[in-house]
Amino acid sequence: MSDKRVVSHSGSIQEAGGSISRFPLISVQGVPLRNHIATNWDSISAFEDHPSDLLIATYPKAGTTWTQEIVDLLLNDGDQEVCRRAPVAVRMPFLEHFSPPHCPSGLSGTPQGDAPPRVIKTHLPFQLVPQGFWKNKCKTIYVARNAKDNLVSYFHFDRMNQTQPEPGPWDSYIPKFMEGKLAWGSWYDHVKGYWKEREKNNILYLFYEDMKENPRREVERIMRYLGKSLPDDVICRIVELTSFKAMKENPMVNYTFIPVPVFDQSISPFMRKGEVGDWNNHFTQEQSRVFDEDYEIQMKGSNIPFRINI
Ligand code: A3P
Repeated sequence: MSDKRVVSHSGSIQEAGGSISRFPLISVQGVPLRNHIATNWDSISAFEDHPSDLLIATYPKAGTTWTQEIVDLLLNDGDQEVCRRAPVAVRMPFLEHFSPPHCPSGLSGTPQGDAPPRVIKTHLPFQLVPQGFWKNKCKTIYVARNAKDNLVSYFHFDRMNQTQPEPGPWDSYIPKFMEGKLAWGSWYDHVKGYWKEREKNNILYLFYEDMKENPRREVERIMRYLGKSLPDDVICRIVELTSFKAMKENPMVNYTFIPVPVFDQSISPFMRKGEVGDWNNHFTQEQSRVFDEDYEIQMKGSNIPFRINI
């Protein structure tokens, strides 16, 4: 299929140069999702998992791609060549995504020839994940990122991804995040939903900030969860290969495989900054005060140990 083909508003494919529209959001059980997800909801919720499946779940922009690459390298014993067999979006399909060809849907399965486990990415909140995943006790890695950095990253992503809803100006984007009006809904409900279920469902709950602070410790944590044991030099190599710098230069993970009309990386690169605390460069004092006040209310009673600086 030609690289010039892109995804249209309706989810069909058009040649580059044709119009690209940003997907409108439609509520599915109270969660705003892109229209192509909402219209395919019956097939998504009927997805038949296999008990060996591995789910990587995140609120958008929390460190999904980073975790995907770590997982693939761990599963393949640090073999860099094997992990370059295809773009990350092909190696690990996006469960609820319904706009091929560049990002296949999770429903279309993993590339032929890949040994189990099948690794599937999702941004769905806990309650919308097809129930079979929980019944079959599929392994699940959840990555959470502090709200302010997550918001900043999402803002820049919505600017550059021409299929996401229009972000509008920064000062009006903050309330949309606070009110859960962005695609995939409320960050607050998302992080709390998986946190509540993590023990019962054997979910490995990770933090982006911990991964930045001590990537080796977190790579080892994921390795143990996957039931693997790799030698020291392999673990070191995986940490190196999944550094921000290495991933920014790796065409199989930096999303340059999505054509420019869809991901316009001249507006903001997919691998943008990869830092903790970039929110300090975006929020005014007043924006930060209002956000923090609301945060206290929305997160009341939850003890999730988020850090906004490290
Ligand atoms: P920024 O926009 O803050 O730079 P996702 O994969 O969930 O869409 O998340 C993307 C965010 O993770 C981006 O954040 C991106 O730069 C960051 N990221 C990706 N790979 C990373 C890595 N190896 N180390 C640190 N951050 C990384």
